[in-house]
Amino acid sequence: LRRGSAAPDLGRRHVLVTAGGTREAVDPVRYLGNRSSGRQGYALAATAAARGARVTLVAANSELPDPAGVEVHHVESALEMRDAVWAVLGAVDAVAMAAAVADFRPSSQTSSKIKKTVGAPEAIPLTANPDILAELTRERNDAGRTHPVIIGFAAETDNAVENGRAKLASKGCDLLVVNEVGAGRAFGTTDNQAVILGRDGSERPVSRGPKEELADEVWDLVIPRLSDTQS
Ligand code: CTP
Ligand code: CA
Repeated sequence: LRRGSAAPDLGRRHVLVTAGGTREAVDPVRYLGNRSSGRQGYALAATAAARGARVTLVAANSELPDPAGVEVHHVESALEMRDAVWAVLGAVDAVAMAAAVADFRPSSQTSSKIKKTVGAPEAIPLTANPDILAELTRERNDAGRTHPVIIGFAAETDNAVENGRAKLASKGCDLLVVNEVGAGRAFGTTDNQAVILGRDGSERPVSRGPKEELADEVWDLVIPRLSDTQS
């Protein structure tokens, strides 16, 4: 870990990181999911811990081992992730929402396995999941508070910066890490290439490199945005 041996510049801070991809049950054996490996979120958790932070990681369906020195809550679905996030929210200085949260879930789950002898279902009706990130920023604004620092992540296939700016504004987060995905980039690989957009208009390109390096760049940008008062 690149900066771990330096000054513990996240010492006495508590950060919350979400990672992985949620799974939304269709029936007891099937789910709707996505390709997130959890690597970027785990890298954020590990680098923050190496820099002295207390770290809570809410992990959805990643095969990676729990990072050392990190408190890990394993969840499956978006609704479980939301509960786990809200359970620790009051205590944290920063939230990094690196998880790929399913936008929709099947409206109902069958309690028994769907059998093929019944024939293909005509459709699987879907219901929108809560937008955890948008809820976090809304609650912060409603309370008239500016902390915790909130970091969103977006994977975009086209016009990454332009789409990222619009997303940062609509989500109301402080920083948005925009990954360019598609054609073998980002998903399931150990390297990442991104641009980190700030609510203040800043734009930090991060060249292709290990996800730990991108994670350290993120924490570098979070530190000056942390409030002086420990929440
Ligand atoms: N996010 C979330 N809850 C959701 C969906 C997304 O908290 N239900 C968070 C992700 O963890 C990420 C950020 O929002 O930090 C952006 O996710 P993304 O899927 O790119 O944005 P969406 O608003 O869902 O837009 P779309 O998928 O249509 O591009
Ligand atoms: Ca989405």
